[in-house]
Amino acid sequence: MYILGINAFHGDSSACLLKDGRVICASEEERFRRIKHWAGFPSQAIKFCLEDAGISINDVDYVTISRNPKANFSKKILHTLKNRVGLKSIFDRFMNSKKVSSVKGQLSTIFNVSKSDIRAKIHNIEHHRSHIASSFFASKFKKSAILSIDGFGDFTSTMTAIGTDNNIEVLDSVNYPHSLGVFYTTVTQFLGFPNYGDEYKVMGLAPYGEAKYLKELSSIIEKTADGFFVLNKKYFKHFKEGVAMDWENGEPTVDFLYTKSWEELFWKSRKKGDTLEQFHIDLATSVQRFTEDVIFHILTKLHEKTGLDTICITGGVAQNSVANGKILANTPFKNMYVPSAGHDAGTSIGSALYLYNHILGKERMPEIKTAYFGRKASEKEIISCLEKEGVKYEKVEDDILFDRVSTRLKEGGVIGWFQGRAEFGPRALGHRSILVDPSRKDAKDLLNEKIKRRESFRPFAPSILEEYVKEYFIQNEEVPFMEKVFDIKKEKHSIIPAVTHVDGTGRLQSVNKEISPRYYRLISEFYNKTGIPILLNTSFNENEPIVNKPEEALNCFLRTKMDMLVMENIIIER
Ligand SMILES: [Fe+2]
Repeated sequence: MYILGINAFHGDSSACLLKDGRVICASEEERFRRIKHWAGFPSQAIKFCLEDAGISINDVDYVTISRNPKANFSKKILHTLKNRVGLKSIFDRFMNSKKVSSVKGQLSTIFNVSKSDIRAKIHNIEHHRSHIASSFFASKFKKSAILSIDGFGDFTSTMTAIGTDNNIEVLDSVNYPHSLGVFYTTVTQFLGFPNYGDEYKVMGLAPYGEAKYLKELSSIIEKTADGFFVLNKKYFKHFKEGVAMDWENGEPTVDFLYTKSWEELFWKSRKKGDTLEQFHIDLATSVQRFTEDVIFHILTKLHEKTGLDTICITGGVAQNSVANGKILANTPFKNMYVPSAGHDAGTSIGSALYLYNHILGKERMPEIKTAYFGRKASEKEIISCLEKEGVKYEKVEDDILFDRVSTRLKEGGVIGWFQGRAEFGPRALGHRSILVDPSRKDAKDLLNEKIKRRESFRPFAPSILEEYVKEYFIQNEEVPFMEKVFDIKKEKHSIIPAVTHVDGTGRLQSVNKEISPRYYRLISEFYNKTGIPILLNTSFNENEPIVNKPEEALNCFLRTKMDMLVMENIIIER
């Protein structure tokens, strides 16, 4: 049985394919379109999934879409009337829900068949149920508490549930316009980071300041006794005007959400590119701390309600790896699972799993331990790409390959590492990565000068052989998807300065031998030469979505100052 899961007309649109309940391929549409967070209909990701599985649209039994325009319909109407929401916002939403309802039409255009020829049954799965399923059904837990928390989707921003075997029981939800995600986005915009998905910059900035503004923030968002929160509408435009979200050219944009009251409470907003002053940094620290506190508040209450020790977390806010790293220490939960794509892209998988497990009642499949569901390139494709561009290359056996690459890393080389299937989710996990020796003090400057040219305050992350996590970090858990930030042991700070953030933390990936054999081998050989079981891993891109195909990797190599590009067993060197 084939289920095609899609996230469409929403940020980070994506597609996945389930064969008898198992995810066999998945990709974000942005990887093909080359526009970050691409938000229309994921036609190229869908084509990739079907081609990869060697099937046609007629072989697909079900299509799931992680939106349900009918969900919370009466609440939407009530909100619209009560708040006299602007007409444009109502019209936009109406047009969007019409698009969501026309999946068959979209598919028939892509595959050039008539609508009646598509035999697949279409299921609209509500947004947060899709998030929830993407976490719980992918985890190994038989029973677990679940939290989905984001900006909003289908008029909801937060949902709690209990998962038992192949069933999900929703407990509570917080409806739009109250939203922790919107709160974080608003501060992100106020601090001069206006692009969709810029929240991680505020998270990266937070360790440089002091949490001086917690009191002020508590007048903007208030924790409630029922274990949730409310926003003070004086501070947010979206209560009245809705959220003006657009994706005319594919890239989502969100209009400013903050009102004048922010400037009365703090000071004036920062414009993109203005100097970052201490006030901005302290506000970033405060919003990060405050958000963590609200998450712990929700989770502590959820633990009390469910009496369960395991938690599955998902939704855009669950991409906050700093908060994730603190959850087990700050709440009564003892085990947790976060999927590789906790953000909206992951709802394609979630909607498909929700149908398979919860609606059709099929048995759960084993835990999803990998994120390598994306596009793969054959050696033939790589060679033909290089020959077309007239680039000199060498093809070498594994023994020589791993030795040469680890030696080049030790000598200070910046390496583009392109192997196997691309990652599904926002993090490069050693299949589409740029790698550097983490012991180099100058690695950050080197990378920013040679490739990334990004804000100097943002940290780079370590990939570490799983067995050595406890030697380098205070916490000792598996972190397969770089979904948590941990404290690096003090005595190790000077050994791996390039991946130690200013507050002594690192957003690690624990690398498992079975799941990432080639990446594991490379780090092992680097360890044999240096005594350090870690590599600095940053995504293979330069102000663009992560590279997907060989020509994108090659272009990135050619226009930057990378020292070596390795695609499967092929080496290109400067
Ligand atoms: Fe979402």
